[in-house]
Amino acid sequence: MKTYRDHYFLKAKQENYPARSVYKLKEMNARFKLFKTGMKVLDLGAAPGSWTLFAAEKVGENGLVLACDLQQTETAFPENVRFLQEDVFERTEEFEKLLQELGPFDMVISDMAPRTTGTKFTDQTRSLELCLESVIVAQKYLKKGGNFITKIFMGPDFQDLVKAMRPIFATVKTFKPQSSRSESKEIFEIGLGFLSEKE
Ligand SMILES: C[S@@+](CC[C@H](N)C(=O)[O-])C[C@H]1O[C@@H](n2cnc3c(N)ncnc32)[C@H](O)[C@@H]1O
Repeated sequence: MKTYRDHYFLKAKQENYPARSVYKLKEMNARFKLFKTGMKVLDLGAAPGSWTLFAAEKVGENGLVLACDLQQTETAFPENVRFLQEDVFERTEEFEKLLQELGPFDMVISDMAPRTTGTKFTDQTRSLELCLESVIVAQKYLKKGGNFITKIFMGPDFQDLVKAMRPIFATVKTFKPQSSRSESKEIFEIGLGFLSEKE
């Protein structure tokens, strides 16, 4: 397996982030001004935890980050983070209860990715399924006016994601961070201004 030790990999090591993916979130934050102190953030597919660490820094001690992933992580998080080992498709009662108690959230961010198979079509289909589930979670737990990020492996069904997001956000943007490898098919779909039906 090829090991990448590029600029962002080394920078993440130096800056004590467990993954280079943090720079993608930093770029999205610089572009769309997403995080503010005191916010409540739900982080889906959070392991090993670099997005969680960055979100926790930005929201500060009066904010909180609820993070979940299929996998455990050894990353040490600050006190404003709760991390749970959870499958987003099969949310446990404990997780739903926490979501109800701690939510609604100002932001839902998802960097979830399927385990890649090498078969482009399968990987893209699974990525879309994860994205559509992240939209369902966002719709259930976002505050009115809240923001959303989800990662997708670009494929022919990409428009299905856009169609799911357009009616529920004031603005939907597509973003490819510079720190995302150019050979990677990943892009980020960003929903700004959640149009809640709850009120
Ligand atoms: C690219 S990594 C996330 C990296 C993370 N944002 C960070 O900065 O450290 C993608 C993660 O999605 C998780 N994932 C995939 N399917 C999932 C599911 N059904 N429920 C929860 N997490 C899932 C994987 O276990 C993996 O850890």
